[in-house]
Amino acid sequence: MKKIFWPLQENVISSNERKKLSNFILNTKRFTQFTEVDKFEKAYSKWQKCKYSIYVNSGSSANLLIVQSAKEIYNWKDGDEIIVPSLTWTTTVTPVIQSNLKPVFVDCNLKDFSFDYEDLKKKISNKTKAIFVAHIIGFPSDISKIKKIIKNKKIIILEDSCESQGAKINQTKVGNFGIASSFSFYWGHHLTTIEGGMVTTNDEKFYNLCLLKRSHGLARELPKKLHNNIKRKYANIDFKFLFLSSGFNLRNTEIGAYLGRFQLPKVNKWIKIRNRNYRQFIEICSKYKKHLLINDKKGISSFVLPFVFKNKKLKIKFQRVLNNSGIENRPLIAGNLLEQPFLKNYKKKYKLKNANFIHNNSMYIGNNQFVNSKKILKLKKILQSFFNEKN
Ligand SMILES: Cc1ncc(COP(=O)(O)O)c(C=O)c1O
Repeated sequence: MKKIFWPLQENVISSNERKKLSNFILNTKRFTQFTEVDKFEKAYSKWQKCKYSIYVNSGSSANLLIVQSAKEIYNWKDGDEIIVPSLTWTTTVTPVIQSNLKPVFVDCNLKDFSFDYEDLKKKISNKTKAIFVAHIIGFPSDISKIKKIIKNKKIIILEDSCESQGAKINQTKVGNFGIASSFSFYWGHHLTTIEGGMVTTNDEKFYNLCLLKRSHGLARELPKKLHNNIKRKYANIDFKFLFLSSGFNLRNTEIGAYLGRFQLPKVNKWIKIRNRNYRQFIEICSKYKKHLLINDKKGISSFVLPFVFKNKKLKIKFQRVLNNSGIENRPLIAGNLLEQPFLKNYKKKYKLKNANFIHNNSMYIGNNQFVNSKKILKLKKILQSFFNEKN
């Protein structure tokens, strides 16, 4: 069969955007975080329907900022437990470990790829401080189930929406259900600023702490209305170099923010295209229910096109077909995270049946605004020939 050009992502920055970027670079007097970042954050808050957005240099940095800020605000102690998914990108979990908190892994479910909600119930202890929910490959997690489980407990929800920008639960965008949420603007995501990410929150105190920690802990990063009081309180330290909190440098550039501002108005259209592709994909795969799990959910903002095979050998065989056809593919995120060498010390304590199943039996191919009906039709033919050969 003739090879298809179907990479995970294509040339997402249009020539028009490149021209605008070039002009911006030629004319701007400022490249580090400044007014473009501010404008992008305001536009993002409007789009996300949240109060505050903090632009950072990656989705991973957004997660780090969230965990570090939550630890400080809620006065968590080293060793306090944070519930994390076993099926997610590594950097949902690593900030928890890097912050001296204890990750408690919960198995995934095979419907929306979020927590196995029964396992979640079992993993909550009196040391649990937060649940870090990850909305996986565009599927909104079942927040109402999670909220029911933690009802009357002092446990907060943090959201990782890096793969699910624009996914909704009853018309509310994911990222608005906990104290804060992360988003990623890496190349393959719904919107790109080349590298980049966002923390969103509706909590002013949390927002202010994120502003500090994003930028070394510097007091001058806080909203202007707070400056005079702080200056009075710390009159013996030059306000320009006054550090109120332990911080990082997680800032991004004016160039990324400028690009983000041009990408943002297009994202709804792109999500529509991704979801249209997903519907067609599901329709085709539904013919092979004998071999494939069919994952669909209301409110999806499709990230990729996932194949979950009932039989591992068949998956390996199909992966070969995809490779030979020129269709780039990846494991379904990092598979069972506990199989990853860096987590080997945690592995012994866990039996994660569904995450293991996903680890062995699944993979995904790209979905984005460049995937069209022609490509989906080719995929249909590939699947037809693959399963007919088999049957
Ligand atoms: C669920 C999840 N969280 C966090 C990240 C990290 O984002 P970034 O690559 O921008 O650091 C990713 C990246 O794809 C992700 O899929």
